[in-house]
Amino acid sequence: MKRVDDFRLRFGKQELVPIMIGGMGVDISTSQLALEAARLGGIGHISDAMLPTATDRHYNTKFVSQKQKQYKYNINSNDKSLVKFDLEQVAEASRIHVSHTMNAKKGDGMVFINCMEKLTMNAPRETLRVRMRAAMDAGIDGITLAAGLHLGSFALIEDHPRFRDVKLGIIVSSVRALQLFLRKTARSNRQLDYIVVEGPLAGGHLGFGLDWAKYDLRTITNEVLAYLKAENLDIPVIPAGGIFTGSDAVSFLEEGSAAVQVATRFTVSKECGIPPKVQQEYFRASEDDMEVNQLSPTGYPMRMIKGCPATHSGIRPNCEAFGYVLDANGQCSYIDAYNRELAIATDPKKMIVKDKMCLCTHMRNYDCWTCGHYAYRLKDTSHKLADGSYQILTAEHIFKDYQFSINNEIALPEKIEG
Ligand SMILES: Cc1cc2nc3c(=O)[nH]c(=O)nc-3n(C[C@H](O)[C@H](O)[C@H](O)COP(=O)(O)O)c2cc1C
Repeated sequence: MKRVDDFRLRFGKQELVPIMIGGMGVDISTSQLALEAARLGGIGHISDAMLPTATDRHYNTKFVSQKQKQYKYNINSNDKSLVKFDLEQVAEASRIHVSHTMNAKKGDGMVFINCMEKLTMNAPRETLRVRMRAAMDAGIDGITLAAGLHLGSFALIEDHPRFRDVKLGIIVSSVRALQLFLRKTARSNRQLDYIVVEGPLAGGHLGFGLDWAKYDLRTITNEVLAYLKAENLDIPVIPAGGIFTGSDAVSFLEEGSAAVQVATRFTVSKECGIPPKVQQEYFRASEDDMEVNQLSPTGYPMRMIKGCPATHSGIRPNCEAFGYVLDANGQCSYIDAYNRELAIATDPKKMIVKDKMCLCTHMRNYDCWTCGHYAYRLKDTSHKLADGSYQILTAEHIFKDYQFSINNEIALPEKIEG
């Protein structure tokens, strides 16, 4: 019986443990988590979602208060089109986070950054461009193009000196999305280094509609593998979404995948950014608590734990400080929903916006409890302690469980009481 450790992900001559921890924004897949994956010989991701906000938290910068001060005059205006990011500050935040992470890297693995196209920041092309280029400047090993089709993303970096040396991959949820990307980027004469195929059981935003349950990861992965074979393309394929045990992973590796991308199991690791109190909510969640809804103003469905604080809030939009979801025209569907409710509210302080959420503020505060479908199985991965709480795991424990387990078993950690 095979274990994940019997396989290797190959990039040229480099061999890695075929486990990649997926990017988790905002500030959930921390440097510490990504560095553990790299130390153990796999691949970890940091996320570039809301990095000016995250660097303020970790590196004592003041990007958010500076932006808020600059645009304070606009707080009561519904028109957010003037609320722009300072591109040099965006680049600086990426450089700080990436260079701190890369300077601390140990071991044979790699650290990639997850760059979401849907993080439009009121200037989609310009901000994506500086985020990717700054990450390359600061020595990132690879960039995973996420949350979008990224048809123009290669063009934004193709004149960068590291364009051909940095690993470049994309997340797709269908062969069609992959075909579009490959067609559009053929001109760059630079192949993808890996393809993450994300199925409907993943956490975060989904590349499916509300009919997500009609699709399954194995079918899409096999379609992608067959397409690449037919086109004579040798690109590592990395399935993601609902791979919960080492045996789940092995079943994909045996069918031709090069590695797996996993995330949900690491939400209850001590290295991940989710605060311990919220991690207990992840442990406690039951299958009935899993929900895919359309609250995210990005327009993509998102999976989260039902009833998390973000789902019953009427918080005032704070685009002057954040504004990461503002589209190219400075619009966000939460602002419209908020203003609609405000116009009819008898008590604005108690008002709830039911159909949309303020993604920036709630993700920043860890009030949007996004997770993969199998989050309800997290309780089976640890010990319930005498006080009723669950024991937080180490990323090393989870990583090694994926790497070495057989028979669908999940190894429990050594119990720590008290
Ligand atoms: C808490 C959480 C946050 C996530 N955030 C992002 C993100 O910011 N960008 C992204 O591309 N994928 C995101 N994902 C998806 C993961 O990177 C990964 O592909 C997927 O969740 C793997 O499935 P699993 O969670 O069932 O292991 C997130 C997943 C989780 C659980």
